[in-house]
Amino acid sequence: MVRDFSLFTSPGMGPTPDGDPHAAVACAHDAPSIFYSPNNTRDGRGTWVITRAKDQRRVLHDTATFSSHRSIFASALGENWPMIPLELDPPAHGIFRSLLNPLLSPKRVMVLEPAIRERAIVLIDGISAASTSCDVMTDFAFPFAVNIFLRFLGLPDERLDTFVGWGKDLLHGEGVKRTAAARTIVAFIDDLAAVRRKEPTDDFMTFIVEAKVDGRSLTDEEVRGIGVLVFVAGLDTVATAIGFDLAYLARNPKDQQLLRREPDRIGLAAEELLRAYSTVQMIRVAKKDIDFEGAPIRKGDYISCATMIANRDPAEFENPNTIDLAREDNRHTAFAYGPHRCLGSHLARREIVIGLEEWLSRIPDFRIKEDTAPITYGGHVFGIENLILDWS
Ligand code: HEM
Repeated sequence: MVRDFSLFTSPGMGPTPDGDPHAAVACAHDAPSIFYSPNNTRDGRGTWVITRAKDQRRVLHDTATFSSHRSIFASALGENWPMIPLELDPPAHGIFRSLLNPLLSPKRVMVLEPAIRERAIVLIDGISAASTSCDVMTDFAFPFAVNIFLRFLGLPDERLDTFVGWGKDLLHGEGVKRTAAARTIVAFIDDLAAVRRKEPTDDFMTFIVEAKVDGRSLTDEEVRGIGVLVFVAGLDTVATAIGFDLAYLARNPKDQQLLRREPDRIGLAAEELLRAYSTVQMIRVAKKDIDFEGAPIRKGDYISCATMIANRDPAEFENPNTIDLAREDNRHTAFAYGPHRCLGSHLARREIVIGLEEWLSRIPDFRIKEDTAPITYGGHVFGIENLILDWS
């Protein structure tokens, strides 16, 4: 049951010019529905890999057998506190999830919409006034998504580049760089919590330090666990999604034309692009020995539910490797399933759709600039490093 397959080390998973890491991992469907990968985490641990969407749903719902408590962030520092709510299992998970749910509800996101659109317009108009080419990642996707996110958190915009740098080192850096980034982020969140305790304002961190669960205030470790998770979860996920979407449209002029002509299709198209270019590998830990689809999973084993694999499952999606912007009934897992489904999905969806709407309505026909190649990479969170578009 052991396969030479890894989201970290298989061909196409390192920084790859003109790479297609999603197509590269879709080959997992040629393997059995579950197999063992000896090196499938950043720190080189083995995981079981669940390839079928239906089996991943089973794992993600069965929190009694498959735990998400594994302190992935804290362990980089030799510590073991959980990121909250992600690394808590029910019932503790539900208590914190109920606390945070209203902050990112569809209603709250609707209130943010005018600011999201305005931010997109200002950035894109600035780009098109200055040039007929840009690096979408540094000039649009990151400044757009991270600015909105920082506003939500109540953090200063002038430190945007610093925050993005920390996120990149954490998610894609190696060894010392990664540990240093983790330490910096924790210190930053701890300081911010201390400041907001003394000087409350109307922002996310103030809400957290003043919140009560079960009639008590949150401990310092809980405040840190929430702050770090939300900081890390929102930092590059949306920017990356926009990057993969615009790279696809640059390479597929017919689909680009279709969305220009019929912008009402952008919402549905964004769902298909989320499916085909999913970015997150979820990991669970077995709480007990279990025979799963013939695999002898042992207590403590890691189980990978990679969204980029489930979303290319031929048993779930017709022609999964064909991108059909009109695909309906698209039950993709880009934002996970079960109790841990993404808390920020409403915000993320609106940012992606608004970003694409404004880009397509303001920038004429674009393509990837000649003699340049977007660099992509695999890992726990897939990424795209640069995307130089040209509309001269
Ligand atoms: C395209 C963008 C995004 C994608 C693809 C994405 C994907 C995911 C996935 C797959 C999970 C489940 C992880 C697991 O179970 O191991 C998750 C959880 C989570 N996401 Fe996102 N996310 C995105 C954007 C955001 C944003 C913008 C925020 C915050 C503003 C956010 C906050 C969270 C939180 C707090 C959780 C944990 C939920 C829980 O454990 O109950 N995400 N996300």
